[in-house]
Amino acid sequence: MKRLVSASLMCADLLNLRASLRQLEEVGVDWLHCDVMDGHFVPNWMMFPDLINAIAGETSLPLDIHLMVTDALMMLPRLKLRKGDALTISLESTVHAQRALAAVREAGAIPGLALNPGTPLVMLEELLPDVELLLLMSVNPGYAGQKLVPQSIGKIARARAMLDGAGYAATRLAVDGNCSFDNVPRMVAAGADVIVAGTSSLFMKGLSLQEGMARLRAAMA
Ligand code: DX5
Ligand code: ZN
Repeated sequence: MKRLVSASLMCADLLNLRASLRQLEEVGVDWLHCDVMDGHFVPNWMMFPDLINAIAGETSLPLDIHLMVTDALMMLPRLKLRKGDALTISLESTVHAQRALAAVREAGAIPGLALNPGTPLVMLEELLPDVELLLLMSVNPGYAGQKLVPQSIGKIARARAMLDGAGYAATRLAVDGNCSFDNVPRMVAAGADVIVAGTSSLFMKGLSLQEGMARLRAAMA
């Protein structure tokens, strides 16, 4: 499976988002990771549907929308999803996760499911047919710039084995949180194929996006 870089837009220059989009297109990121935070599921606020829809109108790159909200189903109709966009819900906040995943697929997007570091993989078992993108949080969601929860690496490997063993080899496996130049080789070796790039790599202070991207691609090779 082709390994993808999903650039975390909350780490870009928020006051110059249009320019950031152009630069991210130029350096060749694969997806644009849009974090949505509602101040309830996580103690922070980030991106809202009108902003995400505006971004979708401004770029042809696929959007990788990551909902960290208490009510994913309420948000779904507000998003103008395009074919190729991914919409990931958080399992821990979504009681009727199967319904939500089916609704995302019905809306024409790639249905994604995110798991917090403390949520065991067994919670995923019955949802496998409805998930095309599994996103493992490798930090507790809410902020950029946190340290890796160490057991995440083993969890990636176990998730990949679980997917392959159950006949879901085509399901993508993303990692989000402290995907640093040091951690990414271990994440990829464990089976991750989508790397969410934030302040630990692409948007690292003191690096240009070109330099960050070159180092990240090398770490993913
Ligand atoms: C939240 C975000 C952040 C962040 C990751 O889901 O996706 O986790 O951008 O990047 P780092 O941890 O490298 O700042
Ligand atoms: Zn995210």
